[in-house]
Amino acid sequence: MGRRFFIETFGCQMNELDSERIAGQLRYGGLQPACSAAEADLIILNTCSIRDKAVQKVYSRLGELRSRKAREPGLMLGVVGCMAQLEGDRILKKAPFVDLIAGPQKACAIEGLLAQRLSSGRPAADLRMEEDTEPAESSEILRESRWHAGVTISEGCDRRCSFCVIPYTRGRQRDRSSARIVREIEGLVAQGCLEVTLLGQTVTSYRDPSEKHPRFARLLRRLAKIDGLERIRFTAPHPNDFDDDLLVAMAELPQVCDHIHLPVQSGSTTILRAMRRGYSREHYLDVVRKIKSAPRLMAISTDIIVGFPGETDKDFEDTLSLLDTVQYDGVFSFKYSPRPSTPAFGRGDEEVPEEKKRERLRILLERQRLIQYNKNAGYLGRNLQVLVDGKARTGFSLAGRASNNRIVNFDGPEELVGTIVPVEITGFGPNSLKGAWNRQRLETTS
Ligand code: SAH
Ligand code: F3S
Repeated sequence: MGRRFFIETFGCQMNELDSERIAGQLRYGGLQPACSAAEADLIILNTCSIRDKAVQKVYSRLGELRSRKAREPGLMLGVVGCMAQLEGDRILKKAPFVDLIAGPQKACAIEGLLAQRLSSGRPAADLRMEEDTEPAESSEILRESRWHAGVTISEGCDRRCSFCVIPYTRGRQRDRSSARIVREIEGLVAQGCLEVTLLGQTVTSYRDPSEKHPRFARLLRRLAKIDGLERIRFTAPHPNDFDDDLLVAMAELPQVCDHIHLPVQSGSTTILRAMRRGYSREHYLDVVRKIKSAPRLMAISTDIIVGFPGETDKDFEDTLSLLDTVQYDGVFSFKYSPRPSTPAFGRGDEEVPEEKKRERLRILLERQRLIQYNKNAGYLGRNLQVLVDGKARTGFSLAGRASNNRIVNFDGPEELVGTIVPVEITGFGPNSLKGAWNRQRLETTS
């Protein structure tokens, strides 16, 4: 029997897609996917390094795998992705039993590394960074979902915010040509895909390398012409290049979902400057005002870091007041984590104490929880189109997402999974909505 592999994914949507790529390549090479790590003889940890906590998670997982590796020397262990890129040597020192190491651009290289490891008897590593070429195309991707797919439009980032490690793990921004993106999505739709999420570190700086007027808004217009593609999402735009063209395209194209994830990071212009984000609080609020005055209602979510070096109580107050002004539909908030290689790493003397970071995070979450609770109350009685993802976590039989990215839980038969159905909202909490599947509406509209 051939080797069976299992991939454990840490981190973002781009990592999830990279894992699907690695899985596709391995299966194409004749390996079989296993249902769990216990049944696999090749385990790959696809890692994240955005915060130290993500890195520590991988080391503790490696600690768990150490004894199994000692019992089963034939078991192959790979560490790939951003953390591997950043600290490959350290991994080999701390966990010398690891067999394969590869950076995030290396989905297609894993099989070769495995062969190299088996023939040489030594750990095999590939940490070379691709800098100038278009991102490598993967012809084989083993998708988790039939109806939703992440699609890379660009990799890497040229912005270099002072806290962020991504430019050092994923390299400079490299864009795929729109022709390739369109071809991939047409193929997905032909196999039943309804929704795509376009992925890139700053999707709004996308430039088609093969065309003359190659901006992101134009890519959206091109994708909206694909017959059968019901929904287009993207993450993440950058506030500095969120231009009017994009807003007009979003308002005009019904396939583009009613949701914009617009990372702000801080509500204080002083901190934004230290973060090298390239915009002020006022500029960000101008962009939000434009989005809010668009002809279509858009949900807005964001990312916030608390406790960046030098963040004073006043700076933090500015972030809280930004939450009050914008009234976000969702917030992902993080305690600042110093990352090696980044410009802010050297500002240890201005570090905000851990306890203060924790307290600020707690206050922020509480404030935002109330905002979301009140916003979600506004959906009572409304009908939302929900793409059903699968079983709900609690209480209801099904869960899915509305176009505005809210999770909607409701009861209905399993065959609704993978379809878009109308749901009437009958209840709400701060983080999700509850509803009733409107069978009649489905029958009259279909
Ligand atoms: N491309 C996105 C960022 C992706 S990283 C953008 O344009 O903003 C996802 C989020 O992780 C960031 O938005 C930021 O809020 C958070 N993050 C990044 N580096 C961090 C660090 N050193 N400490 C804490 N949070 C961090
Ligand atoms: Fe990171 Fe800033 Fe780019 S957060 S991914 S360096 S836009």
